[in-house]
Amino acid sequence: MTDWPVHGAITGPIVMIGFGSIGKGTLPLIERHFSFDKSRMAIVDPSESGRALAEKHGVKFVKAGLTRENYRELLKPLLTNGPGQAFCVNVSVDTSSLAIMEYCRELGALYIDTVVEPWPGFYFDKSMGPESRTNYALRETVLAARRKNPGGSTAVSCCGANPGMVSWFVKQALLNLAKDMGDKGAEPASREAWAALAQRLGVKGVHIAERDTQRAKHPKPQGVFVNTWSVEGFVSEGMQPAELGWGSHEKWKPANAGSHKEGCGAAIFLLQPGANTRVRSWTPTAQAQYGFLVTHNESISIADFLTVRDGAGAAVYRPTCHYAYHPANDAVLSLHEMFGQAGRVQETHHILGEDEIEDGIDELGVLLYGHAKNAYWYGSQLSVEETRRIAPYQNATGLQVTSAVLAGMVWALENPKAGIVEADEIDFRRCLEVQTPYLGPVVGVYTDWNPLVDRPGFFPEDIDASDPWQFRNILVR
Ligand SMILES: NC(=O)c1ccc[n+]([C@@H]2O[C@H](COP(=O)([O-])OP(=O)(O)OC[C@H]3O[C@@H](n4cnc5c(N)ncnc54)[C@H](O)[C@@H]3O)[C@@H](O)[C@H]2O)c1
Repeated sequence: MTDWPVHGAITGPIVMIGFGSIGKGTLPLIERHFSFDKSRMAIVDPSESGRALAEKHGVKFVKAGLTRENYRELLKPLLTNGPGQAFCVNVSVDTSSLAIMEYCRELGALYIDTVVEPWPGFYFDKSMGPESRTNYALRETVLAARRKNPGGSTAVSCCGANPGMVSWFVKQALLNLAKDMGDKGAEPASREAWAALAQRLGVKGVHIAERDTQRAKHPKPQGVFVNTWSVEGFVSEGMQPAELGWGSHEKWKPANAGSHKEGCGAAIFLLQPGANTRVRSWTPTAQAQYGFLVTHNESISIADFLTVRDGAGAAVYRPTCHYAYHPANDAVLSLHEMFGQAGRVQETHHILGEDEIEDGIDELGVLLYGHAKNAYWYGSQLSVEETRRIAPYQNATGLQVTSAVLAGMVWALENPKAGIVEADEIDFRRCLEVQTPYLGPVVGVYTDWNPLVDRPGFFPEDIDASDPWQFRNILVR
């Protein structure tokens, strides 16, 4: 496709915060799909490494890191540079999504990010205790900001591939399941109706089930953390407690599980790092596989979104929801090396560029399980080869993220007064319409796999044979 549609006009300045793997991939999509005044676009990043690319694209590069102290001063002249409504695209690490989002709304600017990122220190502060280091806690800060200041200029929270796109996949997958099961209900038009549909279909849980098969041309050197997206981002979330939306069908909880006294109540956390916690899951290419239960915002937001409550507000139905991530093989080796050294992070980090990858796909989708048709995976199987053909400066993992940022930006432009929203709450059809040309094959596949297939093997195991889809059977212990 060369005839790319222009989805809208951004009338004010565009400010991109962070110009790493996601920022670099997002820039050409912004250029392709929006009309805007390039002379008022700026990229802010403390690392000089992106300057040449930004300048090649005719975009001003500001070499600076946002901090608690300087972010207002730094952003104000950039976001108020001339007429029109500004758009802030935050794809950085080590900046507070909440602080920047609130400031953008104060200025009347549109805002989007792909994660609720905190100021530096949060992820590795031993004095904070595990509960405070959860994504649940981070998400609650955004929900509290919305309660405090409802409405106003749109800020889309957590709109990458996951969190982000996978919330749209969940809705499409529910509709596909409903059709295949002969459900006669109308298409849901509210959060409550989506939750009721999931309940009616008997969905016990949702895995964000991912297999990244992208293979590096050169083997991973010892002492280097290699990944297909931010190493810093992955290590930070991987060292947070494992977290999952906690389903109403669960009969057993790990002994080290903790829950929250405040907030939506949709999730629990485990006293162990997510990137060192394995779960059994399934994707079409891998078939049965181990994935890491890395905490993610969507594990909580999807479970919260699909909760059915009774008149008194008590949850009567909720699917379990969590990430089951098999990253690229080099990243698996990198984690093994890191946890082998008690979690000491390698000093050298490397994100595989599209030309350093031999072949492979990022197979990222949602596995809806426990219903009458057993389990259904719906997602994208984008290859690095296709990615190279359709968008510059990124691998398949990157394009799944950047095209979701694009979709969220389009939605925000079309709905500029929606206040703070999560991906679950925005028009999934419109977003997928914008994003799908970048996703490679998007497929739905049924499987008869469940986490008890071929178990127990040679040794006795603590399993619940009465219901294969219990977390007790999914968690590797
Ligand atoms: N939702 C998703 O699907 C998804 C997927 C991938 C990445 N992400 C998130 O997107 C963000 C970017 O990911 P990436 O792969 O581009 O990461 P990256 O590590 O490649 O780049 C991050 C960039 O942020 C810059 N930065 C660091 N401190 C900064 C500061 N104080 N102010 C401004 N910029 C600063 C770095 O210099 C770097 O260029 C991360 O937060 C990551 O977790 C989300």
